[in-house]
Amino acid sequence: MAPHINKVAVIGLGTMGAGIVEVFAKAGHEVYAVDGSPELAERGKGFVTTSLDRAVGKGKLSEDDRNATLGRITFTAELADLADADLVVEAVPERMEIKHAVFTALDDIVRPDAVLASNTSSLSLTEIAAGTAHPERVVGMHFFNPAPVLALVEVIRTVLADPEVVDAVRDLALNLGKKPVVVGDRAGFVANALLIPYLSRAIALYQTGKVSRTDLDNAGRVGIGLPMGPLTLCDLVGLDVVKEVCEVMYDATKRPSDASPQLLRQLVLARRLGRKTGQGFYDYSADAGAEES
Ligand code: 3HC
Repeated sequence: MAPHINKVAVIGLGTMGAGIVEVFAKAGHEVYAVDGSPELAERGKGFVTTSLDRAVGKGKLSEDDRNATLGRITFTAELADLADADLVVEAVPERMEIKHAVFTALDDIVRPDAVLASNTSSLSLTEIAAGTAHPERVVGMHFFNPAPVLALVEVIRTVLADPEVVDAVRDLALNLGKKPVVVGDRAGFVANALLIPYLSRAIALYQTGKVSRTDLDNAGRVGIGLPMGPLTLCDLVGLDVVKEVCEVMYDATKRPSDASPQLLRQLVLARRLGRKTGQGFYDYSADAGAEES
């Protein structure tokens, strides 16, 4: 039977998770926003509140709507609170053992007819689903950064998925005002399969030393017409995420051009992961004003 999705939970309140919470709550859903400790749940609340306050400051959201949106969200560190969720969206770090631990715990908590979704950008949805008690109710729901702004949602169906569940999640994304695309489980799904080789190529070009960061970014922005240059976009997405997707795609194709560039690997080792750590290809520390590092 097609699931009815009203009450939603989002697990993991980093940049993506907090953005996804905002999307659901703004659309009128009751949302459980969950992270691993009260401090992390509080940090997530800070991300969502800051984003809503910015929208109020720009005159895009009324104070009443801001308060109503926040009122629909329960921030918690207790997975046990999710017993009545119709849909759980997992947005925890991209490590299979962490995903498995979350989904295994959910098996004992949520209703057997609840839909379980993963926001993974790189891991095998089939492997995640196969480790659960109800793989037919597991799908990918892949949002794009920043989730409150970008319309694309990839709905990933595995060979184990119930087609009615896939359709329900696609319809839900439409009701959120998003543009869903349904795609089978493959390395990079669709959008990253297009984007990551471009980003990786840009890093490899920069690595040659023949072009400056700003010129390279301007070529992507002004010349190709994308909203951000490729190195700026890497910093937004997170260099660790770019590297993980590169590696998954390389595993699938074994094409040398899909391997992650050395500079990317080095910056990840150095924990220069982009905006989230204050430095990536550019420096985002307050005094540097998001300029060249
Ligand atoms: N949360 C909420 N709203 C945000 C936001 C955020 N984090 N960042 C920007 N916005 C809003 C701003 O408030 C502004 O709204 P307004 O026009 O109504 O005032 C609007 O977005 C535009 O923002 P800015 O004026 O500050 O700056 P830009 O015009 O440069 O837009 C951008 C910023 C939306 C990030 C735009 O540059 C962009 O779309 N960049 C490309 C992002 C992209 O390609 N993302 C996909 C990455 S791949 C991915 O996520 C998949 C993963 O698996 C790797």
